[in-house]
Formats: sequence, structure tokens, C-alpha cells
Amino acid sequence: MQRDTAIFDLIGKEDRRQMEGIELIASENFVSSQVMEAMGSCLTNKYAEGYPGKRYYGGCQFIDEVETLAIERVKELFNAEYANVQPHSGAQANAAVMLAVLKPGDVFLGLDLSHGGHLTHGSFVNYSGILYRPVAYEVTRENGVVDYEMMGRLAEKEKPRLIIAGASAYSRDWDYRRMREIADRAGALLMADIAHPAGFIATGMLNHPFPWCHIVTSTTHKTLRGPRGGIILMGSDFENPWGLKTPKGAAKMMSQILDSAVFPGTQGGPLEHVIAAKAVAFEEALSEGYRKYMKQVRDNAKVMAQEFIGHGYKVISGGTDNHSMLIDLRTKVPDLSGKVVENTLVKADITINKNMVPFDDRSPFQTSGIRVGTPAITTRGMKEIDMKEVVGLINEVIMNISDDKVIALVKQKVNDMMAKFPKFTWD
Ligand SMILES: Cc1ncc(COP(=O)(O)O)c(C=O)c1O
Repeated sequence: MQRDTAIFDLIGKEDRRQMEGIELIASENFVSSQVMEAMGSCLTNKYAEGYPGKRYYGGCQFIDEVETLAIERVKELFNAEYANVQPHSGAQANAAVMLAVLKPGDVFLGLDLSHGGHLTHGSFVNYSGILYRPVAYEVTRENGVVDYEMMGRLAEKEKPRLIIAGASAYSRDWDYRRMREIADRAGALLMADIAHPAGFIATGMLNHPFPWCHIVTSTTHKTLRGPRGGIILMGSDFENPWGLKTPKGAAKMMSQILDSAVFPGTQGGPLEHVIAAKAVAFEEALSEGYRKYMKQVRDNAKVMAQEFIGHGYKVISGGTDNHSMLIDLRTKVPDLSGKVVENTLVKADITINKNMVPFDDRSPFQTSGIRVGTPAITTRGMKEIDMKEVVGLINEVIMNISDDKVIALVKQKVNDMMAKFPKFTWD
């Protein structure tokens, strides 16, 4: 076969784009060479519908060991009693949980999309909003933190079957204990989607959803720095949600329901090459080096937020406890949408994403905000001092939004800066 130059040329260009630019998308990261190697391995050739020891295909003896290792490692990482490592993505993990615990038309509570929630937490264009009946809680107008009182009121009124903690654009920690009290009063299950802060939770730097949450879902490719994918977890003291006699029995039953909801409920054959890469990433995340990395991610984010504030931008909630922050552009540049800022920063090789801000008056296609995060640039080896320079460059572009000469100069500075960080610190 001739080499597919069309595709490999494009992969080469993307590789260069990733190396030359400043990557600030809060949900992205750079994986280690071992994670990449496992993902590109012969495991992609194998069909393995089912679970270790219970497959629908022969020849799964090594695949079973790979998947079992992934399960054991992620259980250790999150102190979980049950793990399913097969979800192809975070959205798939959430779909499986909803299939397991909700019936079509059932009410559930999630954070409003424009207040930081995720599509799968009840957006009307997503299965979660099409098949079920989502009710949204919000953040407060005064300080941009989750409005637990509103959540409690809604739970009492709507009697949801499920309450979801977690978000895509929220820079503060979660009060899982308080949410559990709300869930218990309403007779609801509590789920945390920790896709974004997973790395902080794994390293004990943010509140742990266990023992408060019945079920936890996550992606593996954001702060966790693994391959693109999802996981579902349950804690060691899962309590009886179904009125069964023994909590142990309930946990077993629930784990079977969740497994069936992943396969055959919402997926076919698992991506075992990705599961192998997840296992590698989990082992990396158990290391002391990863703990240091996560601390640097947070230190960088704190400095970055202060720098934005220093330049006159409004950071929602006034700072960050994690890796990300949401900037409301209306205070400093009310005429500029998030879309314009995103597109102009791309010209300077700085990648961020436009994002709705709480109480936004622009559409999701325009937005009044941007979201930025530090996981990827921290993997490249950047420290606090570099954050000042990065925010300075972003500000230069925003203040000269129509000046192509200034933007070209910033792009040169960006490329020069990134040439000083030629490697991922991991390798
Ligand atoms: C909170 C949250 N949940 C779920 C997802 C979905 O993950 P995926 O893109 O892997 O489907 C995301 C992705 O951004 C997310 O932020």
C-alpha cells in the first residue's frame, strides 16, 4: 500500500500547530509517549464485546488482562469499589448512567449550560434533554458559585430521580456533602461528573465525591492526561438506593445495571487500545510526578486568573480553585464577543474557546466570555512566571483586535516562547 500522504501531511501540520502554539483549552492536554504508544497498538484490531472473563469473542486472554489492570488501577486512583473503563467518551459514560437510573421522561437536576454545565447535563439538543426532563440549577449572580439553595428548592419541588454535580466551565470546588443532603431529602441519586477536576480529586487536591456521590463519571483526557475516553465509578460504601436489604447487594446490583447500560445498552465493542492507554495513564497518575504536575497546574491557574484581573478582566467567581477560569469580556471589552476573541487569538497561535458566561446576553454561537485553562501548557513545562507573559500576549491581541501587524508580532512571540518548551515534561 502506498503511504497515505494526504492524511499524514495533515497529521504533521497538526503536530506543528500543537507544538508552536499556546494551548489554553481547559479540556485538552498532551499525553505521554507511552499513552500514545498503547493507543496506536495492535489492540485496535481486537473485538472484545463483553467484560473480562465474559466475552462474546475468542482470543481475549491478553485483552482481559489489559482491561482488568485498567480497572484495578483506576479503582486505586479514586478509591472506588467499582469501575467500568469501557465508555468511549464522557458523553457515553453519562448516557450509560442515565440509561441505568432513569426512565424516559424522568426528572433530573443539572447545572445550566450557560452557567458552566455540560451538554449531557440536560441541554435540549442532547439525548439528556430529549429523552429525560432536565431541570437546571444555576450559579449566583453575586459571586458566580453554585446556588445550593436554589438546588435545594428545585429538588424539593421537582422530586428528581437524579442530581448531577459537575461542570465544563466552573472554577470552584463542589460541596458534595450538601448535595447529598439535598438528594436524600428528594429521594434522588447523586452523581458527580468530574471530567474536568478528575486529576485534582485523584491527588487529594479537591473534595472527593466519595462517599457522598452514588456514582461518578469522568473523562480520561483532560486533567487526567490520558487518551480520549470515559469511566464510571462507584464508591466503597454505596448505599442502598433501591430499598434492598443489604447495601452490599445493592452495590452489586447497581454495578451490574451500570455494566449492562454501557454494554450492550449504549455501546458495542470496547476500544481496547484506548483502554490500554487509560491503564497507562492511571499508573502515571498514581505517581509522585503527577501530583507535582497537578500542583503546578493549579499554581499556574491561580497566577493566570490574577493576571487577567490585573489587566481589568472579570474572572467569574473572582479566581479559581482548579485548572480553569471563565472570563466575562463585558467588563473590559463589551463590544467584543467570545467568538471574535477566539478567532483572533487563533491568528496569533493562541488557542482558547469562546464560552457562555452566567446571565449572558449573547447566543452560544457568539458568547460574552472565553474559557482558559492550564493543564496543557503545564505539561509543556510552563511555570507561574510564564503565565504573566501568556496573559500579556492575550491582552495585546484583544486590545489590538483589528491590527494584523500587532497580531503577527504576537504570533512570532508565541512561536519563540513555545520553542523554549520543546518537550512534554512527562517524557
Ligand atoms: C463535565 C463534562 N462531562 C462530559 C464531557 C463529555 O466528554 P466527551 O467530550 O469525552 O464526550 C465533558 C467534555 O467536555 C465535560 O466537560
